[in-house]
Amino acid sequence: MVITSSPRLAPASPAPGPAALFPLPLFPLPLLLQGNGVERALGCRVLQSPLAGVSDRIFRELVRRWAPEALLYTEMVNATSLELGHGRHKLEDLATEAGPIAVQLFDHRPAAMAEAARRAEAAGAFLIDINMGCPVRKIARKGGGSGLIREPELAARIVESVAAAVAIPVTVKTRLGWCGGVDSRGVDSRGVDSRGDDSSCGDSSGSDSSGACELDHDNKSRVTTAAVAWCRQLESAGARLLTLHGRTREQGFSGRCDWAAIAAVKRSLTIPLIANGDVNSPEAARRCLQQTGADGVMVGRGTLGAPWLVGQIAAALEGRPLPPTPGPAERLALAAEQLQALLASRGERGLLIARKHMGWTCQGFAGAPQLRHALMRAATPAAALELLNRAAAALP
Ligand SMILES: Cc1cc2nc3c(=O)[nH]c(=O)nc-3n(C[C@H](O)[C@H](O)[C@H](O)COP(=O)(O)O)c2cc1C
Repeated sequence: MVITSSPRLAPASPAPGPAALFPLPLFPLPLLLQGNGVERALGCRVLQSPLAGVSDRIFRELVRRWAPEALLYTEMVNATSLELGHGRHKLEDLATEAGPIAVQLFDHRPAAMAEAARRAEAAGAFLIDINMGCPVRKIARKGGGSGLIREPELAARIVESVAAAVAIPVTVKTRLGWCGGVDSRGVDSRGVDSRGDDSSCGDSSGSDSSGACELDHDNKSRVTTAAVAWCRQLESAGARLLTLHGRTREQGFSGRCDWAAIAAVKRSLTIPLIANGDVNSPEAARRCLQQTGADGVMVGRGTLGAPWLVGQIAAALEGRPLPPTPGPAERLALAAEQLQALLASRGERGLLIARKHMGWTCQGFAGAPQLRHALMRAATPAAALELLNRAAAALP
């Protein structure tokens, strides 16, 4: 196979026969979300998570091929930057995308968030999601992302301002808490570091993905209690759906996601709750839904290099045959297509962005490690395409 120009990889026909992993689960579709005048209906209980630096339009269009009805998210957009004229491309042409797109906003300024939400609604957002979970230090310290967990009153004002500014539903994506719980480091029962700085949270690198942090039993129950209170505050402020990542900000992406805590939060809310964290296969999605009782699941890291995963999980949960996982030839075609699309939209910079995607997609066949190594060093788009072509031609 030789890759020439923009091959469009379509999902292969589903495997015939009884490929569905589970019987149709309990929940009826669609899931209805009331906005301030506009109602939205979610036709799929599997959501593609917002992924900064990843979930651009090109990535979303790939995910959409396998998951036509799933709610997909933009990368997070800073409201103050939008005001200053930056990042507006992230809101362009949303209305022309097939299927529902949530715009995710972050900031600590209610007025800026309200204005950004109006702009996103005008651009065609299906709903507005507020990021209250991002662990990145420079964002959290300014009071955005997970920083709002330490400022519940400000968080509530932000939800209220955004909900009053738009007719579409407003949702929040958050974490269980800030730190682990009450302990010698001065963390109170809301999971809030009462000393007013975040030096205990092991975040020296700008994000928290390094500091392993499994919570012990006592901490777990304190974090759960705090998470219930926090999420109920968000519901009272006007959030119409919450997505809960079952880790604290201190945990970053380490340790195991606490689905039991998500279950406790779910039991305490009247609005729908989407469970997030460690859902990376249809089997994991089923276990997560069983253990949490959540209304749906959101899938993040599992989709890196696997834009078919949301569609596979949705098919499994709905009792449909699973679309097959693309093999090496399809993966190489996908990598080439994504590279070419990024070059067309971002110029030469597209190669830099495409590198990480190619690294994730080119997996699982003989010679893949060598190919990834070479792709990371390809100096020009033509050289990268040539590498993909040669790898495709060498497939058995
Ligand atoms: C590369 C990357 C970028 C992310 N960007 C965002 C973001 O912009 N907004 C957000 O709410 N969460 C973001 N997250 C967190 C994910 O959406 C998700 O909550 C987290 O990865 C847990 O889900 P998972 O175990 O399925 O990956 C990001 C995660 C990763 C790995």
